[in-house]
Amino acid sequence: MPLVQVIVGSTRPGRFSDKPVAWLEDRLGRRDDLDLEIVDLRDHPLPFYDRAVPPARSLRDYPDEDVARLGRTIERADAFIIVTSEYNHGYPASLKNAMDHVFPEFNRKPVTFVGYGNVGGARAIEQLRLVAVEFEMAPLRHAIHILPDLMIAARNADGISPELFSSLDQRLELVVADLLWWTATLSAGRAISVRT
Ligand SMILES: Cc1cc2nc3c(=O)[nH]c(=O)nc-3n(C[C@H](O)[C@H](O)[C@H](O)COP(=O)(O)O)c2cc1C
Repeated sequence: MPLVQVIVGSTRPGRFSDKPVAWLEDRLGRRDDLDLEIVDLRDHPLPFYDRAVPPARSLRDYPDEDVARLGRTIERADAFIIVTSEYNHGYPASLKNAMDHVFPEFNRKPVTFVGYGNVGGARAIEQLRLVAVEFEMAPLRHAIHILPDLMIAARNADGISPELFSSLDQRLELVVADLLWWTATLSAGRAISVRT
């Protein structure tokens, strides 16, 4: 079965992302057509990227075990759902920093997004789509945008419940169906030839 990773971009204390991630974990964890892994960037603390040779050229020759561990994590995925907040109309620096540390592990894999904020994270997601192309990924047209009404209601709700986002269940079905089509298509392509 394809492995879909949910990458949690925000590492802030008290972050909102824990709430939509709980929803994704619940809904995707029930499915029998994919395996799910949550990749929380809090579990991958890395220095600011400062290597002389970019990972697109050095490939999997990593300077230390922390970066190599992130590389091995991303490598095993077949597809990604990036959960992103929006900071000053961009996506979090924590996410970009983690992505810049690796490269070939993302190549030729599909990615979609769950964003939240004043415009449902749309500006952050649009930027991430551009970045994904440079990573030789296939960013999907479909994504999930958590708009202010729902975000405020979820933020004000006590605790973390997947049901906070049940109004987006149908949208998630559509997005995941699309993601799995791309996952199967690109997995077949990678089986023919892989980046070394
Ligand atoms: C530095 C900073 C900048 C922000 N800029 C935006 C913004 O440009 N657009 C937006 O919709 N929300 C913005 N917000 C509000 C975030 O949407 C809100 O804080 C959200 O909870 C952040 O996600 P997180 O809690 O998962 O980190 C900003 C928040 C911070 C801390």
